[in-house]
Amino acid sequence: MQLSKKMRTVLVGCGGMSGAWLDAALTLPDVEIVGLVDIVEAAARKRAVDFHLPQAVIGSDFQSVLEQTAPDVVFNCTIPEAHYAITLAALRHGCHVLSEKPLANSLEQGKILVEAAQQANKIFAVIQNRRYDAQIRRMAHFLTTGALGPLTTVNSDFYIGAHFGGFREQMKHVILLDMAIHSFDAARLLTGADPVSVYCQEWNPAGSWYEHDASAIAIFEMSNGLIYTYRGSWCAEGLPTTWECDWRFIGQQGSATWNGAQVIQAQVVAATGTFTSTHQDIEIPAYQAENIGGHAGIIREFFACIQNGTQPETNAADNLKSLAMVFGAIESAESGQKVMLHS
Ligand SMILES: NC(=O)c1ccc[n+]([C@@H]2O[C@H](COP(=O)([O-])OP(=O)(O)OC[C@H]3O[C@@H](n4cnc5c(N)ncnc54)[C@H](O)[C@@H]3O)[C@@H](O)[C@H]2O)c1
Repeated sequence: MQLSKKMRTVLVGCGGMSGAWLDAALTLPDVEIVGLVDIVEAAARKRAVDFHLPQAVIGSDFQSVLEQTAPDVVFNCTIPEAHYAITLAALRHGCHVLSEKPLANSLEQGKILVEAAQQANKIFAVIQNRRYDAQIRRMAHFLTTGALGPLTTVNSDFYIGAHFGGFREQMKHVILLDMAIHSFDAARLLTGADPVSVYCQEWNPAGSWYEHDASAIAIFEMSNGLIYTYRGSWCAEGLPTTWECDWRFIGQQGSATWNGAQVIQAQVVAATGTFTSTHQDIEIPAYQAENIGGHAGIIREFFACIQNGTQPETNAADNLKSLAMVFGAIESAESGQKVMLHS
């Protein structure tokens, strides 16, 4: 990628995730980190030292760093509660914004941000880094070949006993808001469909180290008529799944499973007429996808889109549909009712 000028970039929120962002951004020759902001200024200073950025303006007041540095781009790596205010301020200052997920802390806030980006004529995209994985691309491509026949059912399981400490252990709807956004967004990619409705139950298992519900089960109807289910917990010890979920895809002619990592298997009907049909294993073709590499992949795509005037795959307007799945699931869990989804 060769941009016509260096993209002056300010990163806000110098906590755990910011390292992955800086690792990726600093490999791009035309990106210059001109500012580092954190309400805990020492965290910003530490990032400047760790990543050898002595020229970066350091501050705890985002507005003041915006004015001092006049950036082209803002990376929003703050906690979810702060995403809205930081992204809105950045867009109103005329910056392109790439934000950590979730896009915002409510669907209403998300819509305001998407409108603000449109008014500013700037790119606003969300890190859904799990789309930028070679195996999910291979799986998604295989599903589009039609080898399984029309898909009817997709299941995903996420079970990881995560002892984070920090904000997540006090966060409401932690599994849905902070983690399931990845799985729901992946389900949209894998099914090629958008959500229509959701029924969800959340609970906090006995013995949980979380203050609020850390487990959830959700059933979605998708726009192509298939049913997608999610079972997830951050409070499940033993036999962990991958962070990408354990998936099963059922089509009219066969099924496939993907463990979220290297293991993908598929079987289709070979002959019918007996109590159970006979099945044959089929090969999952290799697939060469662009921009793979998690955070690095999406960050590369984001800067390429600024240059080309195109939109990243995870642009916020599209990502509202994944966010609607999260907030619809939360609304259903709170009301006990099935919720229709209109992003
Ligand atoms: N994409 C992924 O795979 C992935 C993984 C982990 C976390 N995340 C997301 O990344 C974000 C940050 O998570 P983290 O684990 O780095 O959290 P963290 O708590 O380690 O870091 C957040 C930082 O933001 C700072 N901050 C909070 N409010 C701020 C504000 N108003 N202005 C400036 N700085 C502020 C905090 O002081 C802290 O240093 C969250 O949205 C989280 O959901 C994404």
